[in-house]
Amino acid sequence: MGFYAKYVLPRVIDLAMRNEETTRLRAAWIPLARGEVLEIGIGSGLNLPFYSSDVHRVYGVDPSLELQRMARKRAMAEPIEVEFLSQSADEQLPLSDASFDTVVMTWTLCSIPNAPKALQEIKRVLKANGRLIFLEHGRAPDPGVAAWQERITPLWKPIGGGCHLNRKIDDLIVAAGFRITELKTCYLPGPRLMTYTYQGLAETTGTDAAI
Ligand SMILES: C[S@@+](CC[C@H](N)C(=O)[O-])C[C@H]1O[C@@H](n2cnc3c(N)ncnc32)[C@H](O)[C@@H]1O
Repeated sequence: MGFYAKYVLPRVIDLAMRNEETTRLRAAWIPLARGEVLEIGIGSGLNLPFYSSDVHRVYGVDPSLELQRMARKRAMAEPIEVEFLSQSADEQLPLSDASFDTVVMTWTLCSIPNAPKALQEIKRVLKANGRLIFLEHGRAPDPGVAAWQERITPLWKPIGGGCHLNRKIDDLIVAAGFRITELKTCYLPGPRLMTYTYQGLAETTGTDAAI
């Protein structure tokens, strides 16, 4: 991993993800988490202040040790136990089947190389009555914007830590065997290529989808 990815990008991510809009959405969705929580791509721990006292413990998966260092600092300020797993979420997680009440994934599915595999892992570790809370950016519904997302993604990926602008988040979640129970989509303020946002909740359906 080069200097940019190891040291510069984590600071850019921490700053970029701390804005008024992301904070507003975190405050709306993260308090819905309950029990044992798995956070995919915990980053610098910006969701931690929004967990309610209904959360027993958070496991945070993220391959970036630098972001994990920032998240550990934030975790110390919160009355919540946080464990960290330094790995990609599309590799097998060292966690038991059906062991989590909630999986939280915020602005992360865009960057996971094998998104369907990561969703299968999420599905495996979620309890039957558990749910996935997602807040993600992805493919816009406007054909003009979507065409530019296709063109720009190969150029943007190396700068944006592997981020794909063109993933259709709801389709990926459904294809992995989840039932989406709530979905809100909208552009947030900012460049339309990067701000079309999928917010919602999903449950497992018990059916297996091909990876
Ligand atoms: C835009 S940041 C969002 C961070 C955090 N979820 C938030 O809401 O502030 C994307 C996160 O995905 C993480 N990430 C990148 N590739 C990943 C992978 N293969 N598995 C899990 N997380 C990954 C990055 O390290 C980073 O923390």
